[in-house]
Amino acid sequence: MMRIDVATLFPEMCQRVLDESILGRAARKGLIETHCHQIRDYTLNRQRQVDDYPYGGGCGMVMYAQPIYDCCVDVLRQAQEQGRPRPRIVFLTAAGKPYTEQEAKRLAQYDGLLLVCGHYEGMDERVIEEIADEEISIGDYVLTGGELAALVVADSVLRLQPGVLAEPQGYQEESHWNGLLEYPQYTRPEEWRGRRVPEVLLSGHHGRIDQWRAEQSLERTRQRRPDLYEAHKQEGKEKS
Ligand code: ADE
Repeated sequence: MMRIDVATLFPEMCQRVLDESILGRAARKGLIETHCHQIRDYTLNRQRQVDDYPYGGGCGMVMYAQPIYDCCVDVLRQAQEQGRPRPRIVFLTAAGKPYTEQEAKRLAQYDGLLLVCGHYEGMDERVIEEIADEEISIGDYVLTGGELAALVVADSVLRLQPGVLAEPQGYQEESHWNGLLEYPQYTRPEEWRGRRVPEVLLSGHHGRIDQWRAEQSLERTRQRRPDLYEAHKQEGKEKS
């Protein structure tokens, strides 16, 4: 069973998100486990201060290396004491490796992940050098902290664990699984605000439905994501 630990200044917020909806239900069923840890609990100063001015000047504050490091070491120690494998330590930063479904599938293979969230303008680079196994960015934009990024990674990895999704093939047809965007979906009623569901989907002809969906998937990808479309075509050529 996979376990994800999150080191953050906002453990209640992170835990609340992870305990909701599909992931919350999976956790209550014992299919996955999530634990959030307060980095501030590891400070050594009286004011429980976690950040300070940057050396060299500049705007914003930088998180101290020490409380982040000690929090991670404590999580590793707990894993060892409980006879669990050492979790892979992933730092969430805007300067990390771009995150994709392929990365989610790779991280989903680990028994445990420790997701570490910075806040403010960043963290002391030395804690990353000292303890991070890897650094991930969820996209080319800047967040106020790593929490939302860690939740994105946790969600995309945990939904791939056996039993979490109602239907095991649930994710095999959706966007990005095979490098293409998903075909459009419809449910009742057959007509809504003058818009009809494509006739082929009402035909009950599974061969034609599969073919239509494959065409839609390919055409949408060509129009909306030429980058993915070219990669897909290239892959086809290499295989043949
Ligand atoms: N922290 C701030 N921005 C981020 C991003 N885009 N991805 C991951 N962590 C971040």
